Amino acid sequence: MNAAIELPPRVRLVEVGPRDGLQNEKAMVPTDVKVALIDLLADAGFAAIEATSFVSPKWVPQMGDASEVMAQIRRKSGVRYPVLTPNMKGFDAALAAKADEVAVFAAASETFSQKNTHCSIAESLERARPIFAAAKANGVRVRGYISCALGCPYEGEVAPAKVAEIAAALHAFGSYEVSLGDTIGVGTAGKTQALFAVVAARVPVRLLAGHFHDTYGQALVNLYAAMELGVATFDCSVGGLGGCPYAKGATGNVASEDVVYLLNGVGIETGVDLTKLRIAGQFISDFLGRPPVSRVARALAVKEPLPVRA
Ligand code: HMG
Ligand code: MG
Repeated sequence: MNAAIELPPRVRLVEVGPRDGLQNEKAMVPTDVKVALIDLLADAGFAAIEATSFVSPKWVPQMGDASEVMAQIRRKSGVRYPVLTPNMKGFDAALAAKADEVAVFAAASETFSQKNTHCSIAESLERARPIFAAAKANGVRVRGYISCALGCPYEGEVAPAKVAEIAAALHAFGSYEVSLGDTIGVGTAGKTQALFAVVAARVPVRLLAGHFHDTYGQALVNLYAAMELGVATFDCSVGGLGGCPYAKGATGNVASEDVVYLLNGVGIETGVDLTKLRIAGQFISDFLGRPPVSRVARALAVKEPLPVRA
C-alpha cells in the first residue's frame, strides 16, 4: 500500500439489500420477512437502510408492498430508511408512508434509461426535478443515483464526462449525495479512480458514494480504489443479494459482510457489528434457501458458526 495515501477514518455504509437485493427475487418475499430483515440490519448498526421502492408494481412486483413495509418496520432512532422514488407518484406515496429520505435515479446511458424507466435521461431528470421541491417543503432528504456509471449492458463503454454531467445536475437539483452505480459490475480499479476523479471535478468528493455490483468480482477492490480518492460512503447488500431486473446477468452489490470485514481490517469505522450482520444475512439466506454470496459470511459460518435460531 502506498503510505502517502490517506484512507478515510470512517465510512458510511448504506445497506441496500432490502431494496436492490430483494427487487431481483422472482418469488415474492412476504412483507413480514422484509420487515424482519430491515429490523435485523438496524440492530446490526447500519445508520442507513434502503428499505423499498415506490415504483410501478407492474414493472417490479416484488416492491409492490412498499407502503406496508414502511408501516411495519420498527424505526430505530438515528437510522434513516431511504426509499426509491422515480416520479411524483412514487414520492407522494413515500411521503404518505412517512419516508424520511428518498432516492431518485437516472442512468448514464440512453438505452438503459429507456429500459429501466421508459424515458430518456433528460426526461428522467425532469421527472425527478419536482421531487426536490416537494421533498424540501416536507423536510425529506434526496439522494441521487446514476446507473451504468462504469458501463452499460446495452451500449458498453460510458464516458466519465457524461456521468459527471448528470451528477452535477442531480447535485444542482439538491441531492445531498450522488451514488455512482456500477450496475453490471464491469468496472475495474483504474476505471473507478478515473471516473471518481472526473466526477469529483464537478461535485465535491465528500458528496459522492460508490455503488458497486460484484458481477466480475471487482466490487471490493473498486471500493478500495474509490476510498483512495477520498470517497467515504458506499452502498452494500447483506449476503451480496441482488441484481437489477433491467441488466441481464448482473449480480448483487458488494456483500456487506465482505465490506465490513475489509474496513475492520484496515481500522476504518463503520458502526456495523459483523456478527449481528451475519445474523441478518443468515436469516434472509435461510428464507431464500441458498447460502449467502458473501465470502466472509461463508468462511465465518465454518469457523464461527452462528447459534441456531429458535
Ligand atoms: P411508465 O410505465 O413509463 O409510465 O412508468 P407511466 O408513468 O405512464 O405509468 C404507467 C403505470 O405505472 C400507470 O399505471 C401508473 O399509475 C403507474 P396504470 O395506469 O397503467 O395502472 N406508476 C406507478 N405506480 C406506482 N408507483 C409509481 C408509479 N409511477 C407510475 N411511482 C416508471 C415509469 C419509472 C414508474 C416505471 O418504468 C418503473 O417503475 N420502472 C421500474 C424502475 C425500477 O424500479 N428499476 C430498478 C431500480 S433502479 C436500480 O436498481 C439501479 C440502482 O440500484 C443503481 C445501480 O445499480 O445502478 C439504483
Ligand atoms: Mg444497484
